[in-house]
Amino acid sequence: MANILVATTVFLALIFVNLQIKSLTNITRNNNESLLPIREIFQINYLIRFKKLKFLPKIFIITPTYNRITQLADLSRFGNTLKLVPKILWIVVEDAGFKSERIGNFLNSSAIQHVHLNIKSPWDIINPPSIYKGVIQRNLALDWIRENNQSGIVYFADDDNSYDIEIFEEIRSTKLISAFPVGLVGGLYYEKPKCLNNKIVGWFAYFLPKRKFPFDMASFAVSTDLLHKYPEAKFTTNKSYELEGSLLIDLKVKANEIEPKANCCRKLLVWHSKTLAPKRKYKNQVFEQIILDNL
Ligand SMILES: *[C@@H]1O[C@H](CO)[C@@H](O)[C@H](O)[C@H]1NC(C)=O
Ligand SMILES: *[C@@H]1O[C@H](CO)[C@@H](O)[C@H](O)[C@H]1NC(C)=O
Ligand SMILES: *[C@@H]1O[C@H](CO)[C@@H](O)[C@H](O)[C@H]1NC(C)=O
Ligand SMILES: *[C@@H]1O[C@H](CO)[C@@H](O)[C@H](O)[C@H]1NC(C)=O
Ligand SMILES: *[C@@H]1O[C@H](CO)[C@@H](O)[C@H](O)[C@H]1NC(C)=O
Repeated sequence: MANILVATTVFLALIFVNLQIKSLTNITRNNNESLLPIREIFQINYLIRFKKLKFLPKIFIITPTYNRITQLADLSRFGNTLKLVPKILWIVVEDAGFKSERIGNFLNSSAIQHVHLNIKSPWDIINPPSIYKGVIQRNLALDWIRENNQSGIVYFADDDNSYDIEIFEEIRSTKLISAFPVGLVGGLYYEKPKCLNNKIVGWFAYFLPKRKFPFDMASFAVSTDLLHKYPEAKFTTNKSYELEGSLLIDLKVKANEIEPKANCCRKLLVWHSKTLAPKRKYKNQVFEQIILDNL
């Protein structure tokens, strides 16, 4: 019975995709509305590809961001990835004293379901910075999820990383907490949990190896159930303490509870890539002569 239902749904979805493709032959770049069907097609293909129609909790993507010359480049690239993923809420937290119109406009025109927050890091009070970048922004997003009684899976996704969309489907089946490899991080080509018979038995990481949880921010996902169970849990603001581990310790996570994803942690689906800031050879020229809407 369930199979027939799935088959019918897939069949109807295919017909829908087909109709949408026909109506797409006339896309022009400056017609905003015609871009929406492209998203729908990708999302339907995506649902068909992952066949998890029954069980699809929402994913909360928490992205701290700060004003810099590559900010919109990074956010656009990540936004384009997220446009392919159904059932997400993108929580974008600006490190700023106000919500900038630039990022507000970017989010609104992306048509991605989002929440726009802001909180300023105290760099100007404490110098040199004694807390990690992005920490109080991520903590604010965790508070928002709790205050708004949201339920689903939380993923801390920085705007300059690179993501295979498959990572989001790996994350979606997280029960309490899951972990997976991350590329280009920790002075290695990748860091990863060591996984044997679908159990995590150790870690492949060299950067600060004494950490209780040698994790990168992008290497794990947690269920909101844990956040609600431990309402005080947050990332540390003490820079001499391990960052990712601090949340997991507050959430009372035990190493043997962590669920390995991505084929027993053999598949690399997210990379800690970095965008190079451009060298400004003609310093005074570029910004004086070009007027852009969103710079
Ligand atoms: C595209 O639009 C033009 C003008 O609206 C129309 O004449 C043409 O038949 C359309 N082409 C297709 C393939 O639908
Ligand atoms: C596209 O969207 C922008 C902002 O919402 C709007 O100002 C513009 O008129 C739209 N363009 C078209 C062709 O609809
Ligand atoms: C974005 O959309 C929201 C909801 O419609 C609106 O309140 C907000 O002012 C918009 N932001 C910008 C920068 O236009
Ligand atoms: C969340 O749940 C609590 C307790 O059930 C309730 O008091 C509060 O109003 C809810 N908040 C929202 C935003 O729904
Ligand atoms: C920060 O953490 C270190 C190491 O655990 C500890 O010795 C220190 O007292 C902490 N500092 C503050 C301000 O909490």
